Amino acid sequence: MADAQIATQAPKITRREDYREPDWRVPEIALDFALDPAATRVRATLQVERAGTHDRPLRLNGDGLTALAVRVDGAEAQGWRMDGADLVVPLTGVAHVVETEVEIAPERNTQLQGLYASGGILCTQCEAEGFRRITFFPDRPDVLSRYKVKLTADKTRFPVLLANGDPIAQGDLEGGRHWAEWHDPFPKPSYLFALVAGDLVANRGTFVTLSGREVQLGIWVRSPDLAKTDHALHALKLSMAWDEKVYGREYDLDVFNIVAVDDFNFGAMENKGLNVFNSRYILADPDTATDYDYDAIAAVVAHEYFHNWSGNRVTCRDWFQLSLKEGFTVFRDQSFSADQGSAAVKRIEDVRGLRASQFPEDSGPLAHPVRPDEYIEISNFYTATIYNKGAEVIRMMATILGPDKFRAATDLYFDRFDGTAATCEDFVQCMEQAGGVDLTRFRRWYSQAGTPRVSATLAQEGGRARLKLRQLVPPTPGQPSKEPMVVPLRLKLFGANSGAPLGDEQLILLEDDSRELLFDNLSEPPALSINRGFSAPIIVETNRTAQDLAFLSAHDDDPFARYEAMQQLMLDTLVASAANGGADHGAVIEAVRNTLGDSRLDRAFVAEAVLLPSDSFIGDQMAVVEPEAIFRAREALRNELGKTLAGEWRAAYDGSRANRFEYSPAAKGARRLRTVALGYIAASGAADADRLAFDQFADADNMTDRQGALTTLVNGSSPLRDEAIDTFYRRYQGNGLVLDKWFQTQALSTRDDTAEMVERLVAHPDFTLSNPNRARSLVGAFSVNQRAFHDVSGRGYRFVADQLIALDKLNPQTAAKLIPPLGRWKRFDEGRAAKMRAELERIVATPGLSKDMFEQASKSLD
Ligand code: PHE
Ligand code: ZN
Repeated sequence: MADAQIATQAPKITRREDYREPDWRVPEIALDFALDPAATRVRATLQVERAGTHDRPLRLNGDGLTALAVRVDGAEAQGWRMDGADLVVPLTGVAHVVETEVEIAPERNTQLQGLYASGGILCTQCEAEGFRRITFFPDRPDVLSRYKVKLTADKTRFPVLLANGDPIAQGDLEGGRHWAEWHDPFPKPSYLFALVAGDLVANRGTFVTLSGREVQLGIWVRSPDLAKTDHALHALKLSMAWDEKVYGREYDLDVFNIVAVDDFNFGAMENKGLNVFNSRYILADPDTATDYDYDAIAAVVAHEYFHNWSGNRVTCRDWFQLSLKEGFTVFRDQSFSADQGSAAVKRIEDVRGLRASQFPEDSGPLAHPVRPDEYIEISNFYTATIYNKGAEVIRMMATILGPDKFRAATDLYFDRFDGTAATCEDFVQCMEQAGGVDLTRFRRWYSQAGTPRVSATLAQEGGRARLKLRQLVPPTPGQPSKEPMVVPLRLKLFGANSGAPLGDEQLILLEDDSRELLFDNLSEPPALSINRGFSAPIIVETNRTAQDLAFLSAHDDDPFARYEAMQQLMLDTLVASAANGGADHGAVIEAVRNTLGDSRLDRAFVAEAVLLPSDSFIGDQMAVVEPEAIFRAREALRNELGKTLAGEWRAAYDGSRANRFEYSPAAKGARRLRTVALGYIAASGAADADRLAFDQFADADNMTDRQGALTTLVNGSSPLRDEAIDTFYRRYQGNGLVLDKWFQTQALSTRDDTAEMVERLVAHPDFTLSNPNRARSLVGAFSVNQRAFHDVSGRGYRFVADQLIALDKLNPQTAAKLIPPLGRWKRFDEGRAAKMRAELERIVATPGLSKDMFEQASKSLD
């Protein structure tokens, strides 16, 4: 395959500044598929039009394709040639009809890009550059075409034939075959093309749009899974209504189909009218899916649906603009989820996710701006920076504009760019015009990588206080020095004696290196609440004392800030303890006691607030990460919290028992707190902890409680542990998504022998690298288990590198995504760093390495 040769040649770098408009447009395309897993024939008929005056030939991208026929205007084409993987056809006029024919083998496609087979279903994945593995085409997002698609297949094996747009006609053929034809009236780029063929059933519904059109909805799965699709269908209807209400966006086709497949590189894909999903983001019932899964399903269904406007109706001019659709759409799905339940808890979860995945990316060798300047393999840029930091950038503009102007700006954007391929710059200009603001400097959020650090020093001078703000944007690869960012900060002061607010919240913009603010007429000493609601994706350093933080954790009226004060207090304690081998836990214990005892707080918030920061987030605060010391410090604090607040944890545990499963914000909150409390009871070393966990495990009527209890048992060493692992396995054998949890829970274990256990698990009959979810559940999970992965022997590094080298041969995209933990070597001591580098070097030196892996691993060595 093409991939095998690439790493030995100099990899080709694609640069944003080299963007040129397409030479040829393709207003119409007709595709004819004779589907067969072993050999699928694809005939493509392109109407092409020369764009502007030039004499360049038509270049059609291909990847691993051989042209079986090339025709121009009905006659065999003259003078065509292959240039690498591309097909180049010389054309004389301004408009022609170009036909090509190829044959592909979906059942041999292990990369899961292009047309592939998953559990007997044939499906496609074209973003970003998969369409060129199906047929020859100018495979770039700024070439928009109307698609007519005809599918022919064996009727028994593939009774259902789906494609984009609306179904037009269907019929039977001789030899047990049948056909279906689909038209998509909306011009779209090739990356939004999709087809599905399989033995599928649908959970059907309807939605009446705001202008009164009825849309037929279908969630397509294999028949045993049908009972697990109600939640996704419900989420889809909620999303459609929400986008009408909040953004004024109506759905535009007569049908909207979603298909769930088990083998998928990402979460899901927004193909026009035919979303294809990783089955983990569709299938749910209480016995097999956790509350986290239910929430994620609703969020991903909403995300893909929202792309119909932010991505499909308005698409991206080139892949450097990826955050135009992804950042905006993540912001939209986050807002949707916030509106379904507790907005505060949703914000906490999103910020925790950002800190766990995007902050490390932004401070490591793979740091890149929200709008990157260059790439080797675009698949490597589906990152937390593009998605989640991108969403924060949109959120900051929404904060600066306020809700009404932000809505006017998005209306303007959709209106102005509907049916076109736009840029991040286009979006910002709409914000400026409708918002009446100047975002010249704000644009640096798109061009500069790195997480800004803002120090906030509050000094009291009698009845006045002076707040000094100073920002620093750290150097990142290729960007040694930075300009100051525009940082919107929501802030407020509280009286440190009374807890009463000293004035209203303010929104201030830090636009230069530093800024000073004065507060007058203070009746008592102030405590500073800053970056409330996480108004900017930055790291804030304050001179707040443990006392200030404990105080804010009890009195701040912004729930995020309250959570944040508690986290900061915990973090300061844990970092000090990891560095010095011990610290005073008193302030943390009191703060946790207060929060647990505050009956006005909802249970989900309490559960979030009392959870200690993760090992890796503690590590991120240290000059040199010390995995063992961090683990010990965290365990010691957990143990003391568990013991000192034993009565409180029991009360929280017993108080959140439920009789029967219910999926409501209150019931979810109760379950979350229950498992957190169980964890602390176990951490205290209580004699009955394992029994308690095992009973929860055995009696649970839902996966949240069951997996929560399993996690506690897996971290411990009681005989009940093996029994639970075994029982769980036998109960769910044959359910791939639950087995993923089984592997993942073990890979995340805090026990000393986790590395050994994981090495054994790769040999388990249910382990396979060819299913991306399974590979991630073991290898991906293990590599973020800080203590186990960074075992001083280096065995964790070797294990992960071995697996990634093997996975690269099957699925380069999925393998390359798992490189970042190895690339964090600069953050560790010399011994570990050398071992991590050695593994990266071994990967780079692997013959036949994909360009996906080459880019990630070689950049990680710099
Ligand atoms: N565009 C998809 C999304 O974010 C992600 C994706 C990218 C899926 C590439 C598959 C391949 O919704
Ligand atoms: Zn997306």
